[in-house]
Amino acid sequence: MEQPIISAHQLHKTFRNGQIQVHALRGVDLMVARGEMVAIMGPSGCGKTTLLNCISGLDDFDSGEVMIEGTDLRTMNDRTRTTYRAQRMGFVFQTFNLLPVITAVENVELPLLVSGVKPAEARKRALAALAQVGLTDRSHHRPAELSGGQRQRVTIARALVNNPAIVWADEPTGNLDSKSADDILQLMRQLNQERGQTLVIVTHDAQIGNLCDRIVRMQDGQIIDDGQAHLAPETEPAALVAA
Ligand SMILES: Nc1ncnc2c1ncn2[C@@H]1O[C@H](COP(=O)(O)OP(=O)(O)O)[C@@H](O)[C@H]1O
Ligand SMILES: [Mg+2]
Repeated sequence: MEQPIISAHQLHKTFRNGQIQVHALRGVDLMVARGEMVAIMGPSGCGKTTLLNCISGLDDFDSGEVMIEGTDLRTMNDRTRTTYRAQRMGFVFQTFNLLPVITAVENVELPLLVSGVKPAEARKRALAALAQVGLTDRSHHRPAELSGGQRQRVTIARALVNNPAIVWADEPTGNLDSKSADDILQLMRQLNQERGQTLVIVTHDAQIGNLCDRIVRMQDGQIIDDGQAHLAPETEPAALVAA
């Protein structure tokens, strides 16, 4: 089997606020194949965002191992890791909001400038990414001049402008009406299929889950179903019926 693009093994993460400790990840194992589109679902507070932050290298963890494209991000120094993330990963996170004082195209070209792309080339690629999400005519608008769905499309253009190997999304449709959410979802699925990008999407939305290749379910800091159980012969529907 080809090496998984993401491989997390026995991840543990505890938050400590004064006297209070929260054991947010309790031994998580997760493998994702290149080109897969995976939904991570589960009740609020079960550790989905923490898991995404830990495997994408945004946050530290207590123990365990994460390999991305065969490399342990913790062996990189900060600068190499930042560059690696800017070049190989895209983030659609609510905490990475668009910068309000600059235009859509300026927001989208930011990760390119961080990765050292020349300004003229960055502008060209940012405009192409905006075209891909259908926002050519809004390129020079500021975020406040866009609807929620349009803003989220800018965020997606920003995440995709580097043609990253992996796109991480945390509740990408959380603040959107159902029509905009549906459009965003179709767009992500299309990009996954056309470019073979690996997408890991944290979501509450069962509709998103159903559109993914696989649903990983979490509860209390653990994975309780990694979406591949149905492939095991003993749990085939026919076997269940026969039992
Ligand atoms: N920075 C933090 N400090 C303390 N506790 C946190 C922090 N971030 C998350 N937690 C706790 O860790 C648990 C998992 O949170 P989170 O990963 O955000 O859940 P989810 O994304 O599934 O809603 C929750 O109990 C939450 O309160
Ligand atoms: Mg969350």
